[in-house]
Amino acid sequence: MSNVKLNAAKSAIRLIPESGSIGLGSGSTVAIFAKELGRRVESGKADVSVVPSSYQAYQLAIKFNIPLTNLDKNPELLLTVDGADEVDKELNLTKGGGGALFQEKVVASASKKLIIIVDESKLVDKLASSFLIPVEVLPFSLGVVKKTLTKMDITPIVRQAQKKMGPIVTDNGNFIIDLKFPKPIDNPAKVAIDLKMIPGVVETGLFIGMADEVHVGIEKGAYVLKK
Ligand code: A5P
Repeated sequence: MSNVKLNAAKSAIRLIPESGSIGLGSGSTVAIFAKELGRRVESGKADVSVVPSSYQAYQLAIKFNIPLTNLDKNPELLLTVDGADEVDKELNLTKGGGGALFQEKVVASASKKLIIIVDESKLVDKLASSFLIPVEVLPFSLGVVKKTLTKMDITPIVRQAQKKMGPIVTDNGNFIIDLKFPKPIDNPAKVAIDLKMIPGVVETGLFIGMADEVHVGIEKGAYVLKK
């Protein structure tokens, strides 16, 4: 099996403070990171607690014996480590491939630093190159949001659940619409604002100007892209 995700995770683990509260992102790369973090906690090298960004992250923390905290107790986090679906040249991100984006964005916004762990396949010139942009939508508003998106020349695809009939329901009880743009987007900051302005869109998977470092795992190790 390829080690690229593990190498990205190991690269980020070096940034974990000796003590304090940090954010734990979501996804398959974060799952590998959480295992490494659990080892670090167990060895006594890191006396940290994590704010999970999803039920998945919560369960990872339980599985690997990482102490849990929350944003009420710790509204300021030293850093968050999370994955991404696409990373552009300015380190803007698309996230939400696993359905977790809303809590991820809240946790990231509470963090002094956002550290992203990916493999090279995630690096793109422009966002929406190969990955659709997810938005989290209030179920009540689905029809009207779809209509508005279509008028904006965006094709809305309501994400369907697997092993459950119908749409996926997020950790927050909402739906996800994956947005197909006619071409990769030139101005992701403007797109993020335009989407967020649609009543019924509770959050978008566009993380603009939030990432501080992107640790890119490769077969022989990892390299770091910085803001
Ligand atoms: C979860 O919804 C996402 O934001 C993930 O962080 C993102 O999809 C990256 O996941 P992988 O590490 O599994 O590619």
